[in-house]
Amino acid sequence: MAIWAPGRVNLIGEHTDYTGGLAFPMAIQLGIELRGRVGGNRLRLETDIGIDPLDAALPIDQLSKIPPRWRIAAATAARAAPNTGLSATLGSTLPASAGLSSSAAIEAAVALALGAPAGDPRTALLCQLAEHDAGTPCGLLDQLAVICGREGHGMLIDFHTGHFDHVRIPPDARFVVVPSGQERDLRSSPYAQRLAECRAAADLVDLRSASFDDLGAIDDPTIRRRARHVVSENRRVGEFGTRLAEGDLHSAGELMSESHYSLRDDFEVSTPVLDALVSELLATPGVLGARLTGAGFGGCVVALCESDVDLGRGWAVVPSTGAHRLTN
Ligand code: GLA
Repeated sequence: MAIWAPGRVNLIGEHTDYTGGLAFPMAIQLGIELRGRVGGNRLRLETDIGIDPLDAALPIDQLSKIPPRWRIAAATAARAAPNTGLSATLGSTLPASAGLSSSAAIEAAVALALGAPAGDPRTALLCQLAEHDAGTPCGLLDQLAVICGREGHGMLIDFHTGHFDHVRIPPDARFVVVPSGQERDLRSSPYAQRLAECRAAADLVDLRSASFDDLGAIDDPTIRRRARHVVSENRRVGEFGTRLAEGDLHSAGELMSESHYSLRDDFEVSTPVLDALVSELLATPGVLGARLTGAGFGGCVVALCESDVDLGRGWAVVPSTGAHRLTN
């Protein structure tokens, strides 16, 4: 049996998933391939890059005893089919800790290997809960993009209703992901702190319907800035979807850059390295917009470029299909 699970790049809509906001990710052509067989009563996983393999008896009752690098895979297996054995090798074309959702891709690959349905938002939910079990309090963005992506399309997701639309990406839009060289890890980043700050804001205003004036009800200036990012970002995402569908790449690019400034100034999840990279890219002819992508605190920048631009670095990413079975 073989499974393919892509990574994803979030084009816009950052730190909005866990407050019931909007985001616009797409699954990409880089990802994880899992090859193996189901059966027996152990979870045996190895990689093709020589990391210590995992060999655990089922059911897995204590994730804390699983080596950290395998915890997400083990947590997913425990949720998907706790008593079904799996022996598999994982190969990856995704850079780890770059903000391209290698974790969600691993979750999707393991979940599908153990019988979870492809293309189903419930599989995305299962993977998100597994990631929570493994200690990362993430939203649903990555898992939904990785499981429900469609070739040639991005996804406009409304996390309030759970509804999403596949939006065609114009063929002349070239998205390039450029690594900053700063590695990130959600468990050690202030991600949980931002989550708590957004919850504090949501106790005072409805972040989905609030106007900028409404944010005056929040006394704490830090919490107010976090809320301003969420409110302004939701507006940008809606507008981005419209502009992209119209083929107005210049406006779409500007919205991406504005998103970066909001993440830098109001949400404070950028770093000097990411800011310098964004400035450098925006000064490059043919680059229409650039922003950090993913949680921030390092990772990658995504740039929207005119179709003939070659940045000479990073990965040109194309909208790709979600996780699926390659062979039975
Ligand atoms: C990480 C999380 C997502 C989302 C982004 C920020 O990728 O896994 O749920 O919150 O950060 O937009």
